Amino acid sequence: MTQIERRARSSGPDVLIVDDEDDIRELLELSLLRLGLSSDGAATLAEARALLGQKRYRLCLTDMRLPDGDGLELVRYISETCRDLPVAVITAFGSMDNAVTALKAGAFDYLSKPVSIDQLRALVKSVFSVTAKDDDDSKKDTSSLTGESPAMVQVRSLIEKLARSQAPVFISGESGSGKERAARMIHDLGPRAAAPFVAVNCGAIPENLMESEFFGARKGAFTGADADREGFFQAAHGGTLFLDEVGDLPLPMQVKLLRAIQEKKFRRLGDTTETQVDVRILSATHQNLKAMVEATRFRQDLFYRLNVIELRMPPLRERAEDIPQLAGILLARLSESSGLPPVRLSEGALRALKAYAFPGNVRELENILERAMALSSGEFIEADDLLLDPSDMGEASPAAPATPGGADLQEYLDQVERHVIEEALEKSGGNRTAAARALGVTFRSLRYRLERLGIKE
Ligand SMILES: Nc1ncnc2c1ncn2[C@@H]1O[C@H](COP(=O)(O)OP(=O)(O)OP(=O)(O)O)[C@@H](O)[C@H]1O
Ligand SMILES: [Mg+2]
Repeated sequence: MTQIERRARSSGPDVLIVDDEDDIRELLELSLLRLGLSSDGAATLAEARALLGQKRYRLCLTDMRLPDGDGLELVRYISETCRDLPVAVITAFGSMDNAVTALKAGAFDYLSKPVSIDQLRALVKSVFSVTAKDDDDSKKDTSSLTGESPAMVQVRSLIEKLARSQAPVFISGESGSGKERAARMIHDLGPRAAAPFVAVNCGAIPENLMESEFFGARKGAFTGADADREGFFQAAHGGTLFLDEVGDLPLPMQVKLLRAIQEKKFRRLGDTTETQVDVRILSATHQNLKAMVEATRFRQDLFYRLNVIELRMPPLRERAEDIPQLAGILLARLSESSGLPPVRLSEGALRALKAYAFPGNVRELENILERAMALSSGEFIEADDLLLDPSDMGEASPAAPATPGGADLQEYLDQVERHVIEEALEKSGGNRTAAARALGVTFRSLRYRLERLGIKE
């Protein structure tokens, strides 16, 4: 934005308020004035469109139900014609569906009725820090997800867009594909960058401690609580809460979480009053959450709340053209942290990597390179140093035991299952948690299978 444009923009009113009720418009106008912002009012969609054609605003607030149409139409109109203008919808209390639809249509955020000054303040703060950030391109570091493949370029541009919104984002993708890195980028490029990013591995918290870990506890709330304890929600206040492996949450906790996310408040263990929070929720899992919903292992309402917008991290095998650049960066990083002299990949090694399926994605590439660096003797890493698993090479079909003639089905299936599990354990160096992740099953389920099949490590 040039100086002149900026001046022109800030000289007019800051906010356009669209609501057919005079009282509400007036109330919002006064509240905004208290926050130092001037505003215009429109009572209909037509009026709003006319004003948008004449002036430049920095924020638009719209009611959902208007005499000549609905607020969603305005959200769509604005995202098509004045893409830089953040628009927030005002929804009736409890109508979460509307809010979700609006976010999907491109709204920046929503406010629920009755609109409190605190809600407005939080919204205004995030809108104006986004705008301020827009002027400072030097701060943008979109290169932290390496790769120039079309898939990766698209992911980065979506991340930039998502960073400006406050909508919950669900990040899907295979193990090691960069889900956590993507979540950090969404946070770092957005208005909450200066506030905390709190990442929680939902699968790693013992069930009996979950509530106090998430919501905190007052001193004396349970035996062992000898001081007030801050929960994840409070720790992330003003910032972002990243729920990693959200599919591992037990059902009772899903209910409590849904409530906290929906109402933006929660109660600490041992507390009688509720605490208000302002956090943006990002979540991820390598599991198929939709299938978990169908199997009733994950609540549909929570899924719907978390998955307003989905960001899919492509597996490395779908963007093999990124491998040379990624490998280069990873090798440089490795030699720096280990103090070993820099090494490069031979032509043959690069070819082998490009043909490899990478079930563990970028993390696996890191591990392969680290091991190869230790094995290689010269300036180059050779294909043999990579120790790639032949069953994941090229077009070769996954190695499975041949169907034994005459054996019964269960025995055959057990054999396949044993083979797959043993392979996963071998790859993870005997680490069962990692093996379970790679197989897409819970730790508990893996342990059960190990026992059933009599596999000993
Ligand atoms: N595009 C990328 N550029 C550079 N490094 C990357 C990229 N994607 C992933 N990485 C690196 O690969 C490793 C795995 O990434 P990350 O932890 O974000 O994956 P994940 O999808 O969360 O994995 P998991 O499912 O195992 O939790 C990290 O060390 C990360 O820094
Ligand atoms: Mg992760």
